[in-house]
Amino acid sequence: MMETWATRAGLDLFLAPVDARDTRPRRALEDALRDAVRTGRLAPGTRVPSSRSLAADLGLARNTVAEVYGQLVAEGWFEARVGAGTWVGERPRPAPRPSPPARATRPATDLRAGLPDGGQVPRAAWVAAARKAIAGLGAADLGYTPTAGLPRLRTEVAGYVGRTRGVVARPDDVVVTTGFSETLALVCAALHASGARRLAVEAYGHERHRHVVRASGLTLQVLPVDGEGARVDLLDADAVLLTPAHQFPRGVPLAPARRVAVARWAEATDGLVLEDDYDGELRYDRRPVGALQALAPDHVVYAGTANKAFSPALGVGWAVAPGWLVGELERLRGDRGVRSDGLGQAVLAELLASHAYDRHVRRVRATYRDRRDRLAASLASRVPAARLRGLPAGLHVVVELPHGADARAAVAAGARRGVRFESLADFRADDPGDPADARCVVVGFGAPAAHAYAAAVEATVAALAEVC
Ligand SMILES: Cc1ncc(COP(=O)(O)O)c(C=O)c1O
Repeated sequence: MMETWATRAGLDLFLAPVDARDTRPRRALEDALRDAVRTGRLAPGTRVPSSRSLAADLGLARNTVAEVYGQLVAEGWFEARVGAGTWVGERPRPAPRPSPPARATRPATDLRAGLPDGGQVPRAAWVAAARKAIAGLGAADLGYTPTAGLPRLRTEVAGYVGRTRGVVARPDDVVVTTGFSETLALVCAALHASGARRLAVEAYGHERHRHVVRASGLTLQVLPVDGEGARVDLLDADAVLLTPAHQFPRGVPLAPARRVAVARWAEATDGLVLEDDYDGELRYDRRPVGALQALAPDHVVYAGTANKAFSPALGVGWAVAPGWLVGELERLRGDRGVRSDGLGQAVLAELLASHAYDRHVRRVRATYRDRRDRLAASLASRVPAARLRGLPAGLHVVVELPHGADARAAVAAGARRGVRFESLADFRADDPGDPADARCVVVGFGAPAAHAYAAAVEATVAALAEVC
């Protein structure tokens, strides 16, 4: 008996055992092929190997295989295309089940916070970088990529975050991850392993991030957020997760005195700050605030990501960690079996080295600033009582509606008009929050395609006007 992989013309075919010594090999092969089609292992439209190659691999006479194929064609299991080959036939499909009566819904335009527009991704520059990077890889680069990331990317990231965000980073301090969520999971696991039990988070943020924290065994301390950012004076935890440049999603920066205070807290208590700089590059008023990490590099993990400014399809983020933590993050990553795609890392390194990444960021910064301005102008003229909250930065705005308006009613009105945005209360870590939250919506302006943006603004502003 032998199990068979037939390989010719790029085709592999695994068949149930066929015994070449079988007194009736033709029958056995027919049964095996029918069975493969019947059970769906060979899907309709799949090309099967030539009779010559299958015969060679099975140790059968070519004629035997040709006769089997002829028989299966006659029965409708296979289709022969003259001069081209043999395919699994299209079998009649069962009639589709009647679907429930269609509701008049339009696919919603996604205005959730923080999503970038895939249409902005610079494909030509990406392809050029990919061509150059992959052609330049040595044989050793095509082995297993080091767990902490491709050395060249670690070097480029260290240079980039130092230059653009004022982060104090050497290449050895950088751990490449798949994005912020992985960085968060690794840092929480490292904290837990070192005996930490409590992590403070801002009262506003993503529930999925809070979930990652809890799943690692840490408990949460919820820090209120006011007009100067998180109340770091209330810290009573082993570590704290902050979005200092642009509180997510409230949009306020952490006030200078609080930045200093949290750095001093970390040094005095041997605490750790995880700085989520998710949209640090996207500041529109020419007053970027550098990374908090530079105030206490031994106590801050700086987390950046290419998933917003470039593309989530890249799936690359980075942590710049204090020296004592880098090895631990690397070990934890290895234990989890996570290793980022080496080719993608090589391409990102090339984008950074050639400054194509910088040029892209500068271009989308202008695009997104323009989008924000258009939304603000339309709101000012049509819903003058509404206020935009937060810095001119990032990929979303917080709109505070006037007294009497209800954010959830606004979200529902948006859904009826085909736009999906969220209420600020959806981001709260605890209830009840600030009563004003019930009047605030969070509107992303990154995701729609350029041609769809005007309609998205129109629908959003009309929905907000309806509830005011
Ligand atoms: C507050 C915040 N941090 C980080 C991220 C980036 O996460 P990732 O790099 O995992 O895509 C996001 C993306 O939505 C975010 O909103």
